[in-house]
Amino acid sequence: MILFVLGIASASLAQGYDALVREAESKIMAQKWEEALALYEQAFKTGEFNYGDFYNAACASARLGKSDAAYSYLLKAIDAGFLEKDQLNQDPDLESLRSGDRWQTVTDALKQRLEAIEKTFPETRPAGPVIDLPAPRYDSPISVEAALKNRRSIRSYAEAPLALADVSQLLWAAYGITEPAENMPAFLRGGLRTAPSAGARYPLDLYLAAFNVTGLPAGIYWYNSEKHQLMRIVEGDRRKEVSEAAFNQGMFETASAAIVYSAVYERSMVKYGQRGRDRYVCMDLGHSAENVYLQAYALKIGTVAVGAFTDLWLKKAIGMTRAEEPLYIMPLGKIE
Ligand SMILES: Cc1cc2nc3c(=O)[nH]c(=O)nc-3n(C[C@H](O)[C@H](O)[C@H](O)COP(=O)(O)O)c2cc1C
Repeated sequence: MILFVLGIASASLAQGYDALVREAESKIMAQKWEEALALYEQAFKTGEFNYGDFYNAACASARLGKSDAAYSYLLKAIDAGFLEKDQLNQDPDLESLRSGDRWQTVTDALKQRLEAIEKTFPETRPAGPVIDLPAPRYDSPISVEAALKNRRSIRSYAEAPLALADVSQLLWAAYGITEPAENMPAFLRGGLRTAPSAGARYPLDLYLAAFNVTGLPAGIYWYNSEKHQLMRIVEGDRRKEVSEAAFNQGMFETASAAIVYSAVYERSMVKYGQRGRDRYVCMDLGHSAENVYLQAYALKIGTVAVGAFTDLWLKKAIGMTRAEEPLYIMPLGKIE
């Protein structure tokens, strides 16, 4: 199965190219490899390309036994930004290539690219200007039951700014401190929170990618739960970079902001070992993300949990540290 075939629209591309690759994807889904490849070839003749489409063209070529074309599309995909090592090594579409003489060239090219990118991630988070967030509210005219009943994933938003008070409320709901850590162990990093966490290890970090938030310059901010503050780590609008990392899924066109989750797995693994990595971190993430869904509903804000992205491109767009792994993006925007 191919990661990129998710029915995701690539809004930044020209209409002709876009239409051709959408049709090619539907052919891939139907395993009509010959027709898919012909459509990709036609699409690339427009001069447009992206790494996902090169990758898919490689898959179709490999399925058709056209190994030269497949290797060459894979190298083009890596050149254009394809970074998914596990996918390359496990995708059944590429099975016929792995014993071939050019496979090593492909894996070496990816290895080099990954090493070069890994080097760019900082060990520590740079300290930037700090913004105190408005205090959260602890009451609402919307009941938990109404939020549970009516919550939905929403992918298109009003092109209106988000209020800083709403952003503050959402971040608090996601990972805010509800019981400060006086005389509690240091690993709590502030205290017990809105979301449960295995062993109270709190492996998650949250960022706000602000595109259009009243009173907050566009940029990437790290959420300091302990102090209920934002700390700016990247200046300027990163909509394009975040969107591209997530295959230009349509929700980023109108989102006013996004919460981006990462995890430092070690915080959980130090207590739970592999079980912490395999299970607990993602369970923690789910608890926190559901809080965002429910709080967003109560604020008439739309959101959707986005798990489809290229990890390293998202990590770079946000300015994460080396130890962090990106896990979710939750775009935010007023409901139309
Ligand atoms: C782990 C996970 C990953 C998801 N990734 C995406 C995504 O990349 N793009 C997207 O549009 N929706 C994504 N979703 C949202 C689901 O499509 C959505 O929850 C599902 O269709 C059910 O709809 P509902 O949330 O409105 O109940 C994801 C949801 C989960 C739980």
